[in-house]
Amino acid sequence: MTKKKPSLSIKQVFLLGSKLVITLSVILCVFSLFRTHSTSQIHKHPRSRTIFHVQQQFNGPSKIAFLFLTRKDLPLDFLWDTFFENADSRNFSIYVHSEPGFVFNEWTTKSPFFYNRQLRESVRVVWGESSMIDAERMLLKEALEDPANQRFVLLSDSCVPLYNFSYIYNYLMSSPRSFVDSFLDGKESRYNPKMSPDIPKSKWRKGSQWIALIRKHAEVIVDDDAILPVFEAYCKRRPSIVSGRKNIKLQKQHNCIPDEHYVQTLLSMSELDNELERRTLTYTLWNQSTTKTEKTAWHPVQFSYAKAGPQQMKEIKGINHVYYETEYRTEWCRTNSTFVSCFLFARKFSRGAAMRLLSEGLLRSSDSSVVVTTHL
Ligand SMILES: *[C@@H]1O[C@H](CO)[C@@H](O)[C@H](O)[C@H]1NC(C)=O
Ligand SMILES: *[C@@H]1O[C@H](CO)[C@@H](O)[C@H](O)[C@H]1NC(C)=O
Ligand SMILES: *[C@@H]1O[C@H](CO)[C@@H](O)[C@H](O)[C@H]1NC(C)=O
Ligand SMILES: *[C@@H]1O[C@H](CO)[C@@H](O)[C@H](O)[C@H]1NC(C)=O
Repeated sequence: MTKKKPSLSIKQVFLLGSKLVITLSVILCVFSLFRTHSTSQIHKHPRSRTIFHVQQQFNGPSKIAFLFLTRKDLPLDFLWDTFFENADSRNFSIYVHSEPGFVFNEWTTKSPFFYNRQLRESVRVVWGESSMIDAERMLLKEALEDPANQRFVLLSDSCVPLYNFSYIYNYLMSSPRSFVDSFLDGKESRYNPKMSPDIPKSKWRKGSQWIALIRKHAEVIVDDDAILPVFEAYCKRRPSIVSGRKNIKLQKQHNCIPDEHYVQTLLSMSELDNELERRTLTYTLWNQSTTKTEKTAWHPVQFSYAKAGPQQMKEIKGINHVYYETEYRTEWCRTNSTFVSCFLFARKFSRGAAMRLLSEGLLRSSDSSVVVTTHL
């Protein structure tokens, strides 16, 4: 008995040892598998993380996320209130990025739709600088947390809808593509050669910041940590020009407006140009008159009460194509291959102009075009 004990214990030790070896190698195998898996993922998708991808197969009613980028309050909240009142609350969600600390409640808005819809965190936005992109990404990030949000529309505090909710809902939902105004930046010298090779000139794009995205593209923008730092370093707005000799050096400084290039260039870098309707859904009327300080400055025209008449609105809604000079491209407006009017929204509207749209029945449940015609 006593002799057998050591032999047994040797056997036991052997057994125990082999068990240990097996366990260890299994752990090692799993670990290395995990490692190769994650490294290959990182290699294939440099800018995508997995958090949002789980939620892609969403089966409930799809929502449009309306993302408002405001300075403070929403001056046209009364118009949007009517717009949302005619919608099914399961079909939309609202997010507002305002200045830090600004709260939407019964004292700051007349529309309950906006109560507490401001982001938990926000940044102080300087128009034309990269803080604008930060604010856009914060809106997208928060909206992505609701898996029901399938379309993401960026709007300013002077934007108005041109149609009722159901028309806009169907227009956006029927398109499997994002609407992103994106074109070759021909004559201008906003591209900074220092961005190369991270952003080659061939991928540099320009376009309106007012975009409407599908979920996949919203994820690309929120996940981006490769293109954004390049923009932060090399795409900066030149300080505004003041006359005087001291400013000659300043005027030669590279000038770039990040929010007119970032999304377009990022999507182009991600080889997603072919998943876009390359146009904006938001109408802007440009004042091309020249001023002394800026030779070719274009300014958006503000629509006043007088300018927001039925004839003008009918003309905007009648536009069915856009010409892109730098690409010699005529974009016939489509959603999912069906020809449609180009614009769903318009800016910049004053309170008076928005009141006129309401009183003339632009957003009324009945067919708005009939209402418009009766006023001619
Ligand atoms: C709301 O969404 C449902 C399903 O997604 C759709 O059938 C319905 O037409 C939508 N309602 C409006 C007002 O667009
Ligand atoms: C787009 O159009 C095609 C062909 O008409 C149709 O089968 C498809 O369902 C449409 N897509 C959406 C998202 O409505
Ligand atoms: C266009 O801008 C010029 C100069 O700033 C101004 O005088 C003119 O009234 C503007 N036109 C419109 C239609 O707003
Ligand atoms: C919404 O507007 C469209 C286009 O103007 C019109 O054909 C439709 O009847 C309206 N729908 C509702 C529910 O008001």
